[in-house]
Amino acid sequence: MEKKLIVGNIGMMFGMAHLEGALNYEGAEVAAICDCNPETLRKAGEKYNIPEDKWVTDYHDIVNNPEINVVSVAIPDQQHKQVCCKLLAAGKNVLCEKPLALTREDVEEIVKAAEASTGKFMVGQICRFTPAFEKAKEIIESGEIGELYFVESEYAHDYMHIVENKDGSAHWRADPNRHGVIGGGCHAVDLLRWLAGDPVEVFAYGTHKLLPTVSYDDATIAIMKFDDNLAGKVFVSTGCKRDYTMRTVIYGTKGTIICDNTSPTMTLFTTDENGDTQEPKIIELEVNNHNAVKEFEVFADEILNDKPVSTSAIEGAKTVEVCRAIVESAETGKIVKPNYNF
Ligand SMILES: NC(=O)c1ccc[n+]([C@@H]2O[C@H](COP(=O)([O-])OP(=O)(O)OC[C@H]3O[C@@H](n4cnc5c(N)ncnc54)[C@H](O)[C@@H]3O)[C@@H](O)[C@H]2O)c1
Repeated sequence: MEKKLIVGNIGMMFGMAHLEGALNYEGAEVAAICDCNPETLRKAGEKYNIPEDKWVTDYHDIVNNPEINVVSVAIPDQQHKQVCCKLLAAGKNVLCEKPLALTREDVEEIVKAAEASTGKFMVGQICRFTPAFEKAKEIIESGEIGELYFVESEYAHDYMHIVENKDGSAHWRADPNRHGVIGGGCHAVDLLRWLAGDPVEVFAYGTHKLLPTVSYDDATIAIMKFDDNLAGKVFVSTGCKRDYTMRTVIYGTKGTIICDNTSPTMTLFTTDENGDTQEPKIIELEVNNHNAVKEFEVFADEILNDKPVSTSAIEGAKTVEVCRAIVESAETGKIVKPNYNF
C-alpha cells in the first residue's frame, strides 16, 4: 500500500501557510490542527473547513497521536526546541519554522534530537523555495555568471505593529534573544549561505532608532568573508519605512544577478567572449515569497522517497550561528568566526 502522509499542524497564524501546503498535497491528509488560543484555532478551522473533531488546543494530542506522521511547527521561536524535541522523540517527521531556535543550546538540542530520531526534520527556510532565488541558484550553478566574488542580500520588514501585544505586555518578538537579525535576518543570511557557502568571518554595526519597545538594534549591517576570495554583505532592518523586501545582488566574474522576493522580474547581466557586458536580460518570475506549497512538496518527497533533507537541522543551525555571530560582532565591535561544529 502506498505510504500516506497524515499531518498535524501546530500554530495557526503563519502556520496557516503550512496548512495550505499540506491541504494542497494530494498524498496528504490533515488529521489535526492545533493552537493554544481557541479563537485562533476556530478561525483557522472554519477558514479551511477542517472538521471540529480535528481541532486541538494542546500540542501533546498531536505528539501522542500514533496516526500522525508529519507535523508542522509554527509557534513562537522560543518554543521550537521543546515542541520539536518531543515530536522527534515520538518519531514524527517535523517541519519547523525558521529560525531553528534562538540560543546555541536550543539549536544543539534540536540537532541532536533530529539525529537521534527515526523521523526526518526540515527547517522552513522559505527563501530556498522563492522563485527568484531558485532561479538565481540555477543561473549560478550553470556557470553563466562565472565565479562569485561578492553577494549581498537584505531583510527589510517593518515590525512596528508586530512587536507589541495589544494589552501592552511584552511580545515574544521583543525578547532580546529574538534579535531582528536572528528572527528575520536569518532569511537573508540563509539565502547567502545557500548561494555562496558558509562565511568564515563576520563583522557588524547596529543602530537603534525605530522600534522603541525592543531593546535590540533595529538595523544591522554585516560584512562577511567566505573562503575562496568571496565577500558578502547582509543588511537587516526591522523598523524600515518601506514595503517588505529582500533585495539581493549576486556579482560574478562573468555577470550579475539583481533580484528580490517581491518583484515579478529579475535582471541578469552577462558578458560576451571579450568580457564586455551585454544588454541586461529581464526574466519574468512568479511572485511567491512564502512558497509553503513547494516547501511541503519537497519535504513530502524527501519523506516518501527516503531522501536526505535538503534544508536539514544542521542547515538551520548554521544559519542561526551566522546570525548569532553578527549580533555578537555588533555588540563587541570585534570580528567573529561562526562555530559550525554541531
Ligand atoms: N517563514 C516566514 O517568512 C515566517 C513569517 C512569519 C512567521 N514565521 C515564523 O513562524 C512562527 C510563528 O510565527 P507567527 O507569526 O505565526 O506568530 P504569532 O504569534 O502570530 O502566532 C503564533 C501562534 O501560535 C500559537 N501558539 C503559541 N504557543 C503555542 C503552543 N505551545 N501550542 C499551540 N499553539 C501555540 C499562538 O496562540 C498563536 O496563534 C515563528 O517561528 C516565526 O518566526 C515565519
